[in-house]
Amino acid sequence: MNDRKEVRFAAVGDLHCNEASAGTLRGFFAQACEAADALLLCGDLTDYGTPKEAKVLADELSIVSVPVIAVLGNHDYECNVADEVRRTLQGAGVQVLDGEAVEVHGIGIAGAKGFAGGFGRASLGSWGEGAIKQFVNEAVQEAFKLESALAKLRTPHRIALLHYAPIAGTVQGEPPEIYAFLGSSRLEDPLLRYPVDMVVHGHAHRGALQGRTMGGTPVYNVAKPLLQRTFPDQPPFRLLRLPAQAQIAPGA
Ligand SMILES: [Fe+2]
Ligand SMILES: [Fe+2]
Repeated sequence: MNDRKEVRFAAVGDLHCNEASAGTLRGFFAQACEAADALLLCGDLTDYGTPKEAKVLADELSIVSVPVIAVLGNHDYECNVADEVRRTLQGAGVQVLDGEAVEVHGIGIAGAKGFAGGFGRASLGSWGEGAIKQFVNEAVQEAFKLESALAKLRTPHRIALLHYAPIAGTVQGEPPEIYAFLGSSRLEDPLLRYPVDMVVHGHAHRGALQGRTMGGTPVYNVAKPLLQRTFPDQPPFRLLRLPAQAQIAPGA
């Protein structure tokens, strides 16, 4: 039993749920509910972003008894019906964040999908062809979404929930040629202005488990394939803990 001195989050990304996943995720979700007070899903919830895949995932999630907070990933956009995927999951009680913030057991969670573009001095700049500027602008807009979500939170402890990586540290292990497609340093900027206790993301299936922002905040890559490969004997979620908000004594 958890005495709520802490809040436990089971975090995982890249479930890539497809129609063949029906009946296969319930056991995993049951284990996650048993271990944690809330579930964080870091995008690529479905494989091709089809309404049928979203329905399968919603059905699998029906046994979950704790709050579920999610962002979508690039795969959830593939069939151009991301809004329908979002609504289906919302119908199953999932809080799908796209530049919004929620509070769960007194912990603030700000979520956005994020986007690609590269890291540090190798970041793609907004220069030249219109298509390049549009690409860079997409990452900038996602960073704005994360910033506006973070700005809304007043909780003492906060988590940033992303699909794409905000730092290069957690994509290491992937081929260097594709780093630029795995995340963007533009997502790190808001994290320096609005500090959080931790960042969770997915997308880099072959990346590194953990890194830190320039401000020292821990960043966890919880892509399911990475967790399965690293911890083959454990259910594929990362259990993360934060102190619970102090209860205010009656009359205080
Ligand atoms: Fe993925
Ligand atoms: Fe992805």
